[in-house]
Order: sequence, then C-alpha cells, then structure tokens
Amino acid sequence: MELVQKLIETHDLTKDEFAELIRASEDPGTAGLLGEEAVKLRKQYYGDKVFTRGLIEFTNYCKNNCYYCGIRAGNKNADRYRLTKEEILECCSQGYALGYRTFVLQGGEDPWYTDEKIADLVRTIKSGYPDCAVTLSIGEKPYESYRLFREAGADRYLLRHETANEEHYGMLHPASMSLKVRKQCLYDLKELGYQVGAGFMVGSPWQTPEHIAEDLVFLKELQPQMVGIGPFIPHHDTRFAEEPAGSVPLTLFLLSVIRILLPKVLLPATTALGTMDPLGREKGLLAGANVVMPNLSPVRTRKKYELYDNKICTGEESAQCLGCLERRVKSVGCVLAKERGDAVQ
Ligand code: SAM
Ligand code: FES
Repeated sequence: MELVQKLIETHDLTKDEFAELIRASEDPGTAGLLGEEAVKLRKQYYGDKVFTRGLIEFTNYCKNNCYYCGIRAGNKNADRYRLTKEEILECCSQGYALGYRTFVLQGGEDPWYTDEKIADLVRTIKSGYPDCAVTLSIGEKPYESYRLFREAGADRYLLRHETANEEHYGMLHPASMSLKVRKQCLYDLKELGYQVGAGFMVGSPWQTPEHIAEDLVFLKELQPQMVGIGPFIPHHDTRFAEEPAGSVPLTLFLLSVIRILLPKVLLPATTALGTMDPLGREKGLLAGANVVMPNLSPVRTRKKYELYDNKICTGEESAQCLGCLERRVKSVGCVLAKERGDAVQ
C-alpha cells in the first residue's frame, strides 16, 4: 500500500519497487486503489472520451520470425495476402464515412511495400483526408525511411518494444533481431516528431515481474505518447503453442499503473484483451484505457491476420464493428469520440 501511495504521489517508482508492486498485483485492494486513481487521471485529461483508431491490416507478409507471432515468415501455413492501394483507400473511405479520423496502417515487415509505396500511400491518404491522422505500424526501418514517411505526412508510429530486458528479448526473437535496434527505432521516431507508441505483451513466455518492472522504467524514460499492452496469446503454429496465455487481471493492473506513470498517455483497450475476456475491453477502460482500435480491414482478409488464436472481430462488417464498440464504450459510462484524438500536451 505504501508503494501504491508513492506511485500516486510521484508518478514513478524504482525498478525494484515496480517489481514488488507487480508481485502484489493479486491483492484486490491494491488493484482497486490503482484503478480508481487511473480513472480519475483519465477523466482529468480526457473526460469521458474514448478515441477510435480505424485499423487497416494491409499485409500479413513478414520477413521477421518473432517466435510468438502467427504471421512470422517461418509459418508456412499462414495464408498470405496484401491489400492493394485501391483496397486500402476503400477502407479509408468507408472509415471516414463512419466517423473515423485516424487510420492505422499495420502489417508485417513486407519488403514488397517499398518505402516509396508506403510514402505514396501516406501522401494519398493525407491529401484525401487532411483532417485525419495517419499512424504507421510496419516495424523496424532505417532512420531515412522513417524520415520519408514523416515527410509524406505520417503523424504517429506504433512499435512495441516487446520487452525491455535483453535476455528476455533474445528468448522471444531470433538472433537477427535485437532490443538495441528496436529501442533505437523508437528514439529515431521520437526525434522525427512522430507521436510514438511503445508497449509489450503481458505474460509472454518466461516473463517475470522484474522484466515488467524494466518495461515500466523504459516507458518512463522514453515518454511515449501511446502505450499498447495486451495479454500474450499462443498461436497454434508457433513454438509457444502450448504456453499459457497472459493474465487479464495483470493486464488490467498494468493499464492502471501505466496511466498513473504517464497520466496523459493514449492507452488502448486492445483486441487481445477482448479475446481473452468477452468484457476485456470494457474492463480495460475501467482500468484507465482511453482508446479502442476497431478493425477496418476487408472482412475477407481479417481471419488471415492471425497473430494469435481465436482473435475476435474477424467476422463483422466495419459498421457493425463500430456499433458494437459504441455500445461497449457506453456501457462503462464513456463516449466514443469521432475525432483525431491526439494526446493532450
Ligand atoms: N510488424 C509490426 C511490428 O513489428 O511492430 C506490426 C505488426 S505486429 C504483428 C503487432 C504486435 O502484435 C506486436 O508488436 C506484438 O506485440 C503483437 N503480437 C504478436 N503476436 C502476438 C501474440 N501471440 N499474442 C499477443 N500479441 C501478439
Ligand atoms: Fe512480423 Fe509478426 S513476425 S508481424
């Protein structure tokens, strides 16, 4: 309880203190207190607004082999697809009509989508919808590529750091990938003026409270505008197929901690949270989250963007998806805000 008080008062803890707090996460009193404070802060900065991001999963080709991921290059059973520029623009057009003012282009690291193609896509979307934000989530790129995308008009970039512990990073990724590069990408993106989103999976294999404590210390240092966290969920075609999924209560606990640590942060109640618990996203909002990311991808490709098993929201039309979320958000006393939804300064 002393640590909860310290976190609430100073918006920070040391690594050892974070680890101790996380070890006490099952104590309902602790979670309750943190949740109350997190919602208070969310309301202070964002009122009852929950921002929407229209997610366009435009390619499931990937050159990487992250061990946990269903669309990694080595998964020969993945049914690959790529949306054309026209198909992506059609998603934006439908999304705009439904009220979306942020489009998130997410995909594997797909070399077919050259930097020029991505920049052209961003330019076209920004000129067609100048009042909308464009977020990219396409992995690790050289500084010059990030610069090109930024100059084309990209506003935000989502790149989860996945785990801030070197050794743990090495257990989740092949030797060709490194935490150092991942972190450098995040700092490059910040320097280029993107609104940056980092984040990690909760309950990934071998994750300890100390690892999560390192994630929190890293987030405090990076000061991202967005933080994406969701439970790890096994995918049947990965080496982690038999591993247990991450815990919903711990994810909720960490959402509250992150809201207190970075009070103005944009914090999504993720699809993974909704996959693990039918009311996961509602609970996420009640723990301090303030963003939802409905799927704008064409229905025919949704099931193919299978990062983990049993992913929800893969069958509905975009309009239905939005209607469903609107009801869910309302059920916890919030309103779905149809605006760009930048982080408050
Ligand atoms: N390629 C881009 C990148 O690396 O940032 C974006 C796509 S990647 C699939 C988006 C996120 O999905 C990853 O950052 C990871 O945290 C999450 N993810 C992948 N596999 C997952 C799993 N099995 N369970 C939960 N989340 C997963
Ligand atoms: Fe590239 Fe998952 S391994 S998106």
